[in-house]
Formats: sequence, structure tokens, C-alpha cells
Amino acid sequence: MRKRMSILAGALAVGLALTGCSSGGSGGSDPDNPDQVEVFTWWASGSEKAGLDALVEEFNSQYPDIEFINAAVAGGAGSNAKAALASRLESGNPPDTFQAHAGAELSDYIAAEQIQDLSNLYDELGLKDVFPADLIERLTVDGKIYSVPSNIHRANVTWVNTEVLESAGIDPMKAPESIDAWISDLQKVKDSGVDAPLAIGTEWTQMQLLENVLIADLGAEGYAGLWDGSTAWDSDGVKTAVDHYDQLMNFVNQDYAGLDWDAASQIVIDGNAAYNVMGDWAEAAFTQAGQTWGTEYTTWPTPGTDGVFDFLADSFTLPVGAPHEEAATDWLTTISSAEGQKAFNTVKGSIPARTDADPADYGEYQQSAMESFANDTIVSSLAHGAAAPIAWSSDISSAVGKFGSDRDKDALIQALVAAAESALS
Ligand code: GAL
Repeated sequence: MRKRMSILAGALAVGLALTGCSSGGSGGSDPDNPDQVEVFTWWASGSEKAGLDALVEEFNSQYPDIEFINAAVAGGAGSNAKAALASRLESGNPPDTFQAHAGAELSDYIAAEQIQDLSNLYDELGLKDVFPADLIERLTVDGKIYSVPSNIHRANVTWVNTEVLESAGIDPMKAPESIDAWISDLQKVKDSGVDAPLAIGTEWTQMQLLENVLIADLGAEGYAGLWDGSTAWDSDGVKTAVDHYDQLMNFVNQDYAGLDWDAASQIVIDGNAAYNVMGDWAEAAFTQAGQTWGTEYTTWPTPGTDGVFDFLADSFTLPVGAPHEEAATDWLTTISSAEGQKAFNTVKGSIPARTDADPADYGEYQQSAMESFANDTIVSSLAHGAAAPIAWSSDISSAVGKFGSDRDKDALIQALVAAAESALS
């Protein structure tokens, strides 16, 4: 009996390894079993997994007969997932649904004819009436809609440890008005004895910091012009931004290369840095660490970007050749439902994509994000797939990564110019 149990336990462990956080292989689903849905994301651990779990719980209550198969691939911003997904799609082994970003990134999958038109599902569920027109526009290509958004995140948020700032004699509730003013505060915090006051992580988090500085120095219109060629990548505004970015990098922790976003946010949570620029998935990390907005931590739009909402939305697709199409449609139905969006977003730190949500269900930070989303100028995030196709953002990311070690501003600008030329030609 004992032997049989241990074999069973072993089989269970293998099963879990296949279904949970798979390496992006087969994903462990059975194409002949219609009552399964294999869902591919990069929400593999920590606060992101908690958000996914909340969504799965709601899915299980809406569709109790369908087994959720978790094909998450760890790595913030899809840093490992996107390559794993590409190889699955190329080899004709798609998951039943996968996470992508609304905007340019989605266009890549559409152009490659890897995902299906969901216009009928939108009509059936009346989704055009419940998602904001702006968002529908970003999801539509040639009159067709190819994904269902689960949420809206903001990428231009600075996370602030209040006690660290107070100890440096700075009022944490007052955001500096410009990047220059912020740099002088960073110096003050450093002088107060905090070696690396600005926490940062791996390459994509550096690209997100640069993106924030570009918005601050170019303004919403100038920044938007980077993506259609109307703002030159060697313009004075970009040069100022690169110079600011270089100065900011003088205040960061040196072990950044090995840190994902959550590890970088944790440095602020622990009071070992004053600031971290990150999307508002960090809200989930702060609250799940037991901290309260306005007390242990606070947030501002990154200095110089007040009035601008740097937008991204996670959006789920139906791949061509999905083995469990019907169950995938059920997953998309749960995601789009008021209950699904509430279950997910209250935990994830994002705001619901649906306009009929009740702000009172959300925390104070999220209520402020909802207000900004409704009133601010919206721009598209680079680091999170909204502004540029994958090839272009990968080129920018490599240039930013290289700058981290050589700190050569001219070389960075040249690489940014070259990346734009090859993307827009
Ligand atoms: C973004 C994604 C967010 C969050 C973040 C960090 O690209 O849209 O939902 O997961 O990456 O991993």
C-alpha cells in the first residue's frame, strides 16, 4: 500500500511539474479531452500568480467541469515566455489561449495569422459596450478584434518608501516636479546614507525606466511620435532623456542584472531603497507584503509625467489550431465578465478594462489609477508591448542592456536610431 501511494505521489509530482509553470513544452494538456483548457501566461509566482489564482477560482465556479492547465513560464514582462510561446506557435503546438499585450505586440501575432478573429464573441457577449472605445480601437485590426483584455496597467508609476524619504528630510507625499528635481532628491537620499536609492532590476525594467524618462522629457505627443517616425530618435528631447537616464543610473543597485521586477520592488518594501519605477502590478506586491498606500509606501506618476497615463493591457487570445477551442472560449468569457475582472484585478493591482466596475471594490491606489485613466492623456508602453512590435522593442532592450555596462550615451542614441530605422523602413 505504501509503495502504491509513493508511486501515486511521484506521478502527481510529475503531473504538477508538467501543468504548473511548464517550460513551455507541450504544457501537459490532452488534446482528446475536451474538458481542459491550457492557459499560457508569465504569471508564475508571487503576487502575479495570486492574481491568476483568483481568476482561475472564478473560472472554476463559472465552468466547474473544465480543468485549468497552467502553462505559465516564469519571467517578468514575458521575458522568457514570449520566446517559449513563439517556438510553440512555430511548431504548431499552440496553447488554448495565451496572454499578450493590446497594441503593437498583438499585431505581430495577427500578421503571422497565429490568432483568431473574436468579433463574433464580442457581439455575443456585448463586449463593445463594456470596454472603453479607446481600448477597443487598440485591439482592432482591419475591423476585427483578436483578444479579450483582462485588465489595464499603468507603467509610469514611481513607488516610494515614505520612511526612507522622511529620514532624508524629504516630504514623500510631494512628488518632485521634474526629473532634475528628482535627481537632486536622489542625491539627498544618498547623502542620508542610502547607497542605492533607486531600485532597479533586469534589462526590461531598465527599458521601462528609460520609457518613463522619454515621456517626461518629450511629453505625451513627442513620445507618441517616436513610434510613427514623427519624433526623431536623435532629437534634442531624446538626447536630454538619455542624459537624464544616465544620471539616474548613477543611483541604482549594482546587482540589477539578476533581479526581476519583484526583487527590485522588494528592495523598496524592505526600506533599502527610496524609489522604484514600475508598473502597477507592484501595487499587489506592496499590499501582499502587508503595506498600506499612504503609510509605509506611496506612489506618484514618475516625475515629469503627471497627467499622462502610460498604458498597457493584458489580453487573451484564441490561437489558430487551439486544441480546446470551446473551453478557451469559456476562459475568454470568464475574463470578460464583470465577476472575472473583479476577481482578477482586485488582486493584481491593475484596474478593470470594463467600464461598469465599482471603484469602491478597489483599494485607494487603484481608485487613483481609475481616475487617471479616465482623465489623463494616454500613451502606449514600450516595455509592455503596446507601443512597438516585438522585434523593435527587443532591439531597444538590447541597446539599453548594453548601456548598463558601457554607459556610452552616443552609442545608445545610435542604436536607438538604427532600431527605429529598421522597424519603420
Ligand atoms: C507586464 C504584464 C503585467 C505584469 C508585468 C510583470 O508585461 O502586462 O501583467 O505581469 O509584465 O511581469
